[in-house]
Amino acid sequence: MSIKNLLEKRRSVRHYDPSYTISPEIIVSLIESASKSPNGNNIQATRYLIIDDPNVRQLLLPIAFNQNQVKEASTLIVMLGDYQAFDKDNIIKIHEEGFQAGYFNTTLRDYLANAAINYYANKSHEDLKLELIRDVSLASMSLILLANEAGFETITMSGYDSKQLKEALNISERYLDVLLIAIGKGTTAGHKTVRHNVNKVIYKNQIL
Ligand SMILES: Cc1cc2nc3c(=O)[nH]c(=O)nc-3n(C[C@H](O)[C@H](O)[C@H](O)COP(=O)(O)O)c2cc1C
Repeated sequence: MSIKNLLEKRRSVRHYDPSYTISPEIIVSLIESASKSPNGNNIQATRYLIIDDPNVRQLLLPIAFNQNQVKEASTLIVMLGDYQAFDKDNIIKIHEEGFQAGYFNTTLRDYLANAAINYYANKSHEDLKLELIRDVSLASMSLILLANEAGFETITMSGYDSKQLKEALNISERYLDVLLIAIGKGTTAGHKTVRHNVNKVIYKNQIL
């Protein structure tokens, strides 16, 4: 199905068949493709925490305000950003890998690595948080579309208590939890939703 059709047909689905399983290989393959999404300076900060233990899912249910999809969907993924991705060592390593793979020469390797290091050098924690949200969000949308293309339904969730979720899953301050994605076989179609007329959301040259 074309991207356009996937986007036209996609709905947030809130009821799933709890007996339906998606193989770990399929999930890994979806994530592998999602990881090809654009990301700032290719520092690859997005992390995918797969929650497949039913007991942990049960634990997360009240933390996610009893949204049943947390328990019923085949797969639940906590989409995280890793603050350590901004470390100089990571940036140098990634660009060295690109050089070793033959994708660029040493001049471009050093230029790209230094540009990335300088770009993050003076950023505040809030700035870095925004960088993570950008990267994780783009990867999330890719994952959603890939899951839809593979015949699954999805829902994005920010409806959970972040502090409690981090405690329950032992997620340290190294990571930013951006959102949850549930993937599975829907049992009830997601309700249709309206969108603004496109002319209402487009501005030209200045916001009026
Ligand atoms: C960042 C984000 C967080 C969301 N959190 C929730 C959520 O916690 N629970 C829920 O039922 N839907 C959640 N949604 C789904 C939205 O309500 C839904 O995308 C919107 O109403 C448009 O409907 P559609 O996705 O079916 O087109 C979330 C969507 C986004 C993008």
